[in-house]
Amino acid sequence: MTEAFDAVDLIVAKREHRVLETAAIRWLVDAFTRGAVADEQMSAWAMAVLLNGMERREIRDLTEAMIASGERMSFDGLGRPTVDKHSTGGVGDKITLPLAPLVAVFGVAVPQLSGRGLGHTGGTLDKLESIPGWRADVGTAEMRAQLADVGAVICAAGADLAPADKRLYALRDTTGTVESIPLIASSIMSKKIAEGTSALVLDVKFGSGAFMTDRTRAEELARTMVDLGTDAGVETVALLTDMSVPLGLAVGNAIEVAESVDVLAGGGPADVRALTVALAREMLALGGQPDADPEAALDDGRAMDVWRRMIRAQDGDPDAPMAEARERHVVLAESDGVLLEQDAKSIGVAAWRLGAGRARQGERVQHGAGVLLHAKRGDAVRAGQPLATLLTDDEGRIPRALEVLEGAHVVAPAGTAVPDRPVVAGRIAAG
Ligand code: URA
Repeated sequence: MTEAFDAVDLIVAKREHRVLETAAIRWLVDAFTRGAVADEQMSAWAMAVLLNGMERREIRDLTEAMIASGERMSFDGLGRPTVDKHSTGGVGDKITLPLAPLVAVFGVAVPQLSGRGLGHTGGTLDKLESIPGWRADVGTAEMRAQLADVGAVICAAGADLAPADKRLYALRDTTGTVESIPLIASSIMSKKIAEGTSALVLDVKFGSGAFMTDRTRAEELARTMVDLGTDAGVETVALLTDMSVPLGLAVGNAIEVAESVDVLAGGGPADVRALTVALAREMLALGGQPDADPEAALDDGRAMDVWRRMIRAQDGDPDAPMAEARERHVVLAESDGVLLEQDAKSIGVAAWRLGAGRARQGERVQHGAGVLLHAKRGDAVRAGQPLATLLTDDEGRIPRALEVLEGAHVVAPAGTAVPDRPVVAGRIAAG
């Protein structure tokens, strides 16, 4: 087959800051998917993009080409609006669990294709798999039926959803080319647009536990994704949220499910509830329900009812006891004062080292492992008070978790002012 372009020309063009035409980008993604562009060429091109960036039109072309590499789902004819949420990932980020059933209470359908964790940020599917019997694999027809009946489904993305992105992401992971705004934005949005949702709310995080530690870069990522969604006809809004401390008190799998159930029962940590409600309001507004009251649906049990139906529909038992870790180790405060810092990244890495996450694709996670916090940033603490409990099935993992937690908790003298950092720090919409 005679190829329309030469991969080397496109690598050099990007290396020299040139703008690629639409046909070139389409060809590159298609040729990479069918193996006519080698992994090392695609990696070199990705590095050139990371260093020199892309224009809005190029990013749109890249996103469209990755969508075209696989199936495009559609929920037309469902009889309800569909709105999805995507988070760029953080420590203790279990928000999808209470959020999907909460939004479904109001007749807005939530098709939530989720992933497994890799590295220090956990995966929604790993969390839900700690519920006995629960199944992540749901076919398209079953997904549609569950959306029509229950209104919410959280499941694994099929292999045919943006396969070019899957291959490119695996390369980026091993070639230092993850942290590029055009590449992250096109990767996330190709999957979300291919999934067929009519509207999308993005939770773009910044702070030590997030992909983008810097707020300005997170804002640029959010703007790029909102533009991509808008250009593709998917109404998209982004919230910028703080990830310098973990969300809630639980970081792990089963313990995050338990905390989500607390939120669905009208309780739970204030920050988890506040972010769940803020994202629900955005999703409900996009779904045509701007006056809906999500707080009432958490407090009166309607969201819990949908949760239980959603878990049962995927063969899970919402009443079954979940795994508990065999070993525990308590970290104590060394002095009296106020908790000034509680570093999200260190706590995420500790939970991962305890067995809550995986180092390689396909590894098993421990459902009961993780870090349970006993105080939040800003709380008064006393010397000897427990700050965190480390949970694992394997005692040998505790020293390496303790190593990374060294310095993660900073206790300042009583009376030290703790700057207010609201969980929702900004909002970006089309325009
Ligand atoms: N998540 C994705 O799906 N892709 C990225 O590039 C980064 C995060």
